[in-house]
Amino acid sequence: MQTIVVESKEQGAEKIVELVREELEAGSLNVLGLATGSTMEPVYEKMVASDLDFTSVTAFNLDEYVGIPATHKNSYAYYMNHLLFNEKPFKETHIENGMAENLEEECVRYETLLKENPLDIQLLGIGENGHIAFNEPGTSPESVTHVVELTESTIAVNSQYFTEDETMPVTALTMGISSIMQAKKLIVAAFGEKKRAALEKLFAGEVSTEWPVTYLLDHPNVVVITDLKL
Ligand code: GLP
Repeated sequence: MQTIVVESKEQGAEKIVELVREELEAGSLNVLGLATGSTMEPVYEKMVASDLDFTSVTAFNLDEYVGIPATHKNSYAYYMNHLLFNEKPFKETHIENGMAENLEEECVRYETLLKENPLDIQLLGIGENGHIAFNEPGTSPESVTHVVELTESTIAVNSQYFTEDETMPVTALTMGISSIMQAKKLIVAAFGEKKRAALEKLFAGEVSTEWPVTYLLDHPNVVVITDLKL
């Protein structure tokens, strides 16, 4: 595991874009896994401002809420369209359909697509409780794309984005740990004190189901970018 310590989230975002650029210019980036959350906002801002050309790249997103459409400002589809895809064309973009009538079938469809398009890079944020994508504590390392009931901790953190008259979904669709671990390279970003506990667990070097981020210890090509000095 390689760790890059930066001074700020902005500098971290620049570093991430640089790593993506390296692979893109080397011709080794065909499929890019993307993440959402506030951590990734400056990353997409910098990608949009850059001269990077993603027209030969297929994108896959990690996760999506169940029950809110792509037109809802808190859906991850909306986030991606507005922060990146509307400005930077990709060859194809994929995100789980949280409005699918049959969610189990939707998960199988998504996982099949992932198998057909192996991820070259997967960008990852970390939840305060150590989740990656929406793989909450207790998730099996064998998991593939699945339906998940969000934990109290995640609901408490993510509800800040929903206004009082909006009900936050408590169910989501997410790539599994195994789906994520298939990526050739993982770029993990964690900025700010709220991520300290999760990063400490990762750097402690012991895999624990209670801290899904520690599963990444078993991956051969992980870059962690953080502003925390641990
Ligand atoms: C959400 C997403 C995760 C993301 C995490 C961190 O729960 N499902 O994929 O990594 O939040 O979010 P933030 O970057 O806002 O701290």
